[in-house]
Amino acid sequence: MDTQHERFDARARAPESHLRPPTITPPDHPLPFPRSLMAVIRNPIEGWCKAVYEEPIFLEQMPGQLLAFVTDPEAVRSVLQSTGDAFVKSDVDRRLLSPMVGEGVLTAEGKKWRWQRHTTAPLFRHGELLCYVEAMSAAAKRVCDRWRQAGPKSIQNVDQAMIRASFEIIADTMLPHDDGFDIALIERCMADYLAVSTWDIAYALLHVPQWMPFPGKGRSRGAAKTMRAAMSDLVEQRRRSGKAHDDLLGRMMAATDPETGEAMPSDQVIDNLLTFLLAGHETTATMLTWTLYLLAKAPEWQERLAAEVRAVAGNRDITADDVAQLGLTRQVLNEAARLYPPVPVITRLATKDVELAGKQVPAGALCVIPIYAIHRHALLWDDPDIFDPPRFSDDLHAGRPRCTYMPFGAGPRICMGAAFANIEAVTILATLIRDVRLAETAGLNPVPVARVSLRPKDGMPLEVTCLETSA
Ligand code: HEM
Repeated sequence: MDTQHERFDARARAPESHLRPPTITPPDHPLPFPRSLMAVIRNPIEGWCKAVYEEPIFLEQMPGQLLAFVTDPEAVRSVLQSTGDAFVKSDVDRRLLSPMVGEGVLTAEGKKWRWQRHTTAPLFRHGELLCYVEAMSAAAKRVCDRWRQAGPKSIQNVDQAMIRASFEIIADTMLPHDDGFDIALIERCMADYLAVSTWDIAYALLHVPQWMPFPGKGRSRGAAKTMRAAMSDLVEQRRRSGKAHDDLLGRMMAATDPETGEAMPSDQVIDNLLTFLLAGHETTATMLTWTLYLLAKAPEWQERLAAEVRAVAGNRDITADDVAQLGLTRQVLNEAARLYPPVPVITRLATKDVELAGKQVPAGALCVIPIYAIHRHALLWDDPDIFDPPRFSDDLHAGRPRCTYMPFGAGPRICMGAAFANIEAVTILATLIRDVRLAETAGLNPVPVARVSLRPKDGMPLEVTCLETSA
């Protein structure tokens, strides 16, 4: 790696910066097959050996598949910058996501992808997003209310609460909900679908045919079918209503293919509704879950954030204007997304021979961009495993080389919802931290597990104390 990237954030640290939250201890050497395969199924990150966290690139041969773990920022950039000339979305992505989201904007390639991205992008303009802050703040207040109803001090499954809140927000802001949603059903389906997702990764790596069974496959595919049927009903309702709406569904129904002039087929509309539902709520919920956990371990940061929120917004609801002023709140969220990136890994397939970080990578290699390892890489970060939000103070963050911090990916396929997620996370965290204090529950030691998003293995029960001086 070039020296300009080396430990960019090396500096004197505040004395309280000693919090070292749980991480995965990498094996010294690549695991032999079939242990490597078992690791993929249990928790893909467990199989990444030390070299992935220490070298700019690391090649690992699995039976039938070469893996190239790319962490050098320039090499990562060149992989993600490509739109089909040298790298494409891999079979891992397709097998993992397509049963649920078909060929929507997250999984499509080429012209089909470009058209879908172009059609949906206007919904994510900054001005548009700020209109959603009210819905975000309302969802956060409902979380506080539910916690308060449980008593002044209670144990709460914070991960579930964040999934519920972020789902309510995506439903309120992006999806058609004229006749309401069965939230519990959708939550159950998403959980069933994601629970066995690592089997799809393992099978894709081994080139096992699609029809091959695995434990939980029937339930997972059933969940996808139920979700697709629910979205199909929504599309039908909208068609029958005949009303024009300027929301995600309205835009997709009004869009015409720039080449053929044809309308977007219903299946593709459903693909995208599910794409935004899947991509848009699990991930933000995960970011908030790990943030609340880190704050439970760092009470001094809870007080700092609460003081910032009171100074900016007093006791009133968080507004769009406040979001930009909550700088410390953003630092904490950024640091949480560094230590526990909600999307811990992305992949691309090399379609031709290339050189990356000084190594030859042949066509057919699976390029693994291990975001989790990049964010804890020995060559890129000083004391990478320590929780230290000031790494994201404006001056340090502004000069950080691209692709050293990349929770939202990079290049033309960078996350469409990054600004949406950031605004949502700031609004929810600010609302909660003014009203509650968090503490760890006895014996809590959450292991991060990659299931599309980076979930805590056994959930995240935290002790929640509701403060008397609420908004
Ligand atoms: C903290 C929250 C989030 C994180 C960490 C995250 C992360 C990511 C990452 C890493 C990618 C790139 C995948 C790749 O290159 O293979 C991506 C793509 C995408 N994300 Fe997000 N995301 C978040 C929230 C959201 C939200 C809220 C939405 C929508 C409301 C969303 C919609 C999308 C879409 C549509 C894509 C596909 C873009 C394309 O391929 O052109 N994401 N996200």
